[in-house]
Amino acid sequence: AARGESAILELPPWSTSLGKPVAANPYGMPSKYESNLVRRESPGLTRVGGSSVAFAPLQGLFGIITPSGLHFERHHQGWQDVDPGKHRLMINGLVKKNMVFTMDDIMRLPSVSRIHFIECGANTGMEWGNVAVPTVQYSHGMLSCSEFTGVPLRELLEYCGADFKKGRYILAEGADGSSMTRTIPMELVESGEVLVAYGQNGEMLRPENGYPLRLVVPGVQGVSWVKWLRRIEVGDMPWATKDEAVHYIDLMPDGQHRQYTSTQEAKSVITSPSGGQVLLDKGFYNITGLAWSGRGKIKRVDVSTDGGINWRTARLETPVLSKALTRFNIDWNWDGKPCILQSRAMDETGYVQPGYGQLRAVRGKKSIYHNNAIQSWKVVENGEVSNVQVL
Ligand code: MTE
Repeated sequence: AARGESAILELPPWSTSLGKPVAANPYGMPSKYESNLVRRESPGLTRVGGSSVAFAPLQGLFGIITPSGLHFERHHQGWQDVDPGKHRLMINGLVKKNMVFTMDDIMRLPSVSRIHFIECGANTGMEWGNVAVPTVQYSHGMLSCSEFTGVPLRELLEYCGADFKKGRYILAEGADGSSMTRTIPMELVESGEVLVAYGQNGEMLRPENGYPLRLVVPGVQGVSWVKWLRRIEVGDMPWATKDEAVHYIDLMPDGQHRQYTSTQEAKSVITSPSGGQVLLDKGFYNITGLAWSGRGKIKRVDVSTDGGINWRTARLETPVLSKALTRFNIDWNWDGKPCILQSRAMDETGYVQPGYGQLRAVRGKKSIYHNNAIQSWKVVENGEVSNVQVL
């Protein structure tokens, strides 16, 4: 052993022979050594897998783009692989002419491509009362970020002669069995941000993510990003559908329900080191994570390694885009003693991500949706990292 490492001194057979031919995998796959990095389901969360969620493995991702095959998936009534040749989008309601578009009609129009995060309103929902899950994949993995390509909905509405004066809301409806219908305020559509999208990360949407057509509503909770989009209705008031009157609402401490709180407030999480990981030794680590806000760009992320007593400002990796994930990192020398790692995001409106104490003072402990509290990871002497809550 003293004579040197065999991994350097001895050539493995593969490095002296002909490799596999091109197109052996016509659609490329990750290395077999990366097979542990997959979407994961939380067993027992729902009665059937068709109404469940598979969480994105945030702990193993770099930068801000989620590979399409690892994008989280959340369905109310399972997913389908829909024939694009048969798919239609209808626009009706307060419009001069009702119209039906084929995929070809939509894809021949001028397109835009934009990078945005999507976060389910229920992300981190299991943690409202207490620590419930061990890893960042389960605590924050209903979060992904992609480059979406499509046509601004405003243009399709203009084409149909929508009444933008009276028609202050749209209803988006999905074609799956869940009758997913959501009201979206017309301001968001008028801003040009809402897209009728068919592309994701340079290819067509994956079936799990709404192939061939979904709504992209930047900054707004995932449920409004209606998949397998088949109908848009223009109307003069919110519809109060089941998915906005009964679900995706905030249960307040006084027992009242708060509706239409759809914007995802600023939030961040350290993805490495994070729950379930082990620090091998004391010494240098690059703490890294993600920050995002439904109200625009991330302005600053502070990181604490002592449970929130002292904070240092992290580096933001470029690009820093509006309503997209922003990657941050900061140097850290672990002295081998127990400590608590936290990150706190601030967005361009000046909003600062709250701690659990602050959030629960307003929202109580019994909610499901819109938990954007500061996440804490505890490191103990043997290097094990676990999920804890700090008030
Ligand atoms: N659209 C339809 N038609 N059916 C659904 O079940 N789920 C919604 C939304 N759009 C859903 C839908 C929810 S709750 C979320 S969080 C996002 O899609 C998830 O999108 P993803 O599966 O692409 O991650």
